[in-house]
Amino acid sequence: MHALEYLYPMRTFLITSGTMEKPNVMTADWVTPLSLNPPLVGAAIAHKRYTKKLIDEYGEFVVSVPTIELLKDVWIAGTVSGANVNKAEKLSLTFVPSKKVKAPSIKECQANLECKVVNAVETGDHVLYVGEIVEVTHEDAFKDKPDVKNYKFILHVGFGNMFTTNSSEIFKA
Ligand SMILES: Cc1cc2nc3c(=O)[nH]c(=O)nc-3n(C[C@H](O)[C@H](O)[C@H](O)COP(=O)(O)O)c2cc1C
Repeated sequence: MHALEYLYPMRTFLITSGTMEKPNVMTADWVTPLSLNPPLVGAAIAHKRYTKKLIDEYGEFVVSVPTIELLKDVWIAGTVSGANVNKAEKLSLTFVPSKKVKAPSIKECQANLECKVVNAVETGDHVLYVGEIVEVTHEDAFKDKPDVKNYKFILHVGFGNMFTTNSSEIFKA
């Protein structure tokens, strides 16, 4: 087992890049909050991803929050490279225009965080893109707190093809 697998389960997200005309989407576990003010989020993208090429070209990306119903598409987005195929045609996800970036948002996702790259840090075989969140769109029911009673988010159990989801139980600290 790789040392990093001890950090799992991890939440799984989608990252869109490119443009509405030529969109791409990949799956990413390695997404992390970095700053409240300004709102910054980090995404670690391997050098060999087509997504990296598109983020370098446009300086923008969107972090989309999928639920477990989208697992089939999340798996395709995470196993097929947009370098070889137009993934948009293989997926049943709907790309919709974002408000402040060229990279599209995903209609079926519960939230879309539109990001502009403010820094890129080389981290071994990945690049940590630091994105400033310039706009967020979300489901109406999602505006107060993430709704873990009604939404089943995607948790990656470890490296490989096993996933789980959140429980609707709430424990107060
Ligand atoms: C659940 C899951 C999580 C993943 N997390 C990441 C990640 O955080 N960073 C990364 O570079 N690749 C990650 N990948 C791999 C990419 O999603 C995958 O290589 C994808 O095909 C890249 O697409 P692209 O070449 O079109 O950018 C993940 C794959 C899966 C299935």
